[in-house]
Formats: sequence, structure tokens, C-alpha cells
Amino acid sequence: MENKNFLVVGASSGIGLALAKQLQAKGATVFTASRTQSEALKALGLPWLELDTKADVSALEAFLPAELHGMAYCPGSINLKPITRLTETDFLTDFQVNVVGAVKVIQQSLKKLKAAGSSSVVLYSTVAASVGMPFHASIAASKGAVEGLARSLASELVSSKIRFNVVAPSLTDTPLAASLLNTPEKREASDKRHPLGRVGTADELAAISSFLLSDESSWITGQTIGVDGGMGKLR
Ligand SMILES: NC(=O)c1ccc[n+]([C@@H]2O[C@H](COP(=O)([O-])OP(=O)(O)OC[C@H]3O[C@@H](n4cnc5c(N)ncnc54)[C@H](OP(=O)(O)O)[C@@H]3O)[C@@H](O)[C@H]2O)c1
Repeated sequence: MENKNFLVVGASSGIGLALAKQLQAKGATVFTASRTQSEALKALGLPWLELDTKADVSALEAFLPAELHGMAYCPGSINLKPITRLTETDFLTDFQVNVVGAVKVIQQSLKKLKAAGSSSVVLYSTVAASVGMPFHASIAASKGAVEGLARSLASELVSSKIRFNVVAPSLTDTPLAASLLNTPEKREASDKRHPLGRVGTADELAAISSFLLSDESSWITGQTIGVDGGMGKLR
């Protein structure tokens, strides 16, 4: 990963933070962005841009180098409610953070991704986009859109040698999932629901993301890869 530039949007916590660390450890030059800079991110000493992907993202232009070899878009949401309680605003907000935010960052970085000669973009879905789960209507709708977006762009930009892949986690121990894992009972129930007997870690999700950003995955594009303790495929 030496002499390569990567952008991790949403690097202040969870999977994005673990990914920024792993890329840095592999010798990459890592640019980070999020709304806030956590102490853990600050400690890495990486270039950081204060960025809210719901707002204007044009500051990325001056922040990023001319060539960008890869980008991961990590902002997401877990907004679980019965359909009777989901509002139009819930659906629009989830879509804005998960889909439109990613689109804006991709559009803003496109010239630099093309300039690198070959590059890779990683987006995040959820196991709930392909396996029906109660109360997931809004997030599943948005993440289904993320998967479609990635496949479409993978095709549209294949001639520019930009790969697009999606990682689809099941429940992973990050700040985003804290409210689902904040008691021993909830954690045990969540662990038991997974065929492999436990929820995921940020490092596990970062490892596959780092692989997808690297040249080791240079023949993989347009894929959604389940990293989910078996939730997506096993009974
Ligand atoms: N954790 C899970 O169980 C799970 C399961 C399925 C899918 N996923 C997906 O995996 C991805 C990573 O999730 P995670 O668990 O690592 O989440 P996380 O711990 O909440 O991290 C999300 C990161 O995105 C940043 N962020 C959020 N909204 C933003 C915005 N509007 N603009 C810029 N940055 C923003 C956050 O930092 P700031 O708050 O400082 O901006 C943070 O750095 C997400 O797409 C999520 O939907 C996670």
C-alpha cells in the first residue's frame, strides 16, 4: 500500500477507524473525514477534514491529493422501527446518509480516482438488505440502494479502472450498534443469533475493506460480500 492514497470517510469510530489504522499500518497515505475527530482518530496523526456528507462536500477537492487510489464511505445508520412508526423523514434521512452522501463523495473524488490509473471504492450495506428482518424496512431500503449504486457504477466506470464493491456486515461491535449490545443479555442474544456464535468486530470488517481497496482484489468488482457470521446464507 506504499505510495498509495486512500480516503476513509467516517474514520472517527467503528469500522472506518479500524480501516484507517490498518491502511496506515500497511504504509498507505490515509486521508480521513468525519463530522467530529475522536481522540482515537486524533492519535493516529492522519490528515483529517471536518465533513458532514449531508451538506456540501466540495472541501474534499482541496483536501485530497491529485491521485486517489481508493475510498471507503463508512457513514451509516441503524434506525429500527415497525413500519407503523417509520416516517417519511426516517426514510429520507437514511437515504441521505447512506446513499446520497456516498454519491456526493464519489462524484467529488471521481477525477482523482481516475487519475490514479486504477482505484477501488468500498461501500457498506447490511445483511438485512438481502435477508428479510423485521423493523429493518428503512435501512434495508437504503442499503439495497447502496448495492444497486455500486453495481451500476462498477459497470459505468470499469473502463476508467475504478472498482466498486460493497461489504454487507451483520451486527458488528461499533458505536453505531451500541444500543443493541449494551447489556450482557442483549449481547448474548445477538451472539446466539449468528451461526458462528458471535457478533462481528470492527477489525474484521476493516480487514475485508482493506483487501478490497488493495491490488490483491484487482479482479473483483461489482460484488456485495457478506461478512456476517453466517447470517446471510446459513440456517
Ligand atoms: N455496526 C453494525 O452493526 C453495522 C451493521 C450493518 C452495517 N453497518 C454499516 O457499516 C458502516 C460503518 O458502520 P460503523 O458501525 O462503523 O458505524 P459508526 O461507528 O457509527 O461509524 C460511522 C462513522 O461515520 C461518521 N459519520 C456519520 N455520519 C456522518 C456524516 N453525515 N458525515 C460524515 N461522517 C459521518 C461517524 O463520525 P462522526 O459522527 O464524527 O461524523 C463515524 O466516523 C455503516 O455504513 C453501517 O451502516 C454497520
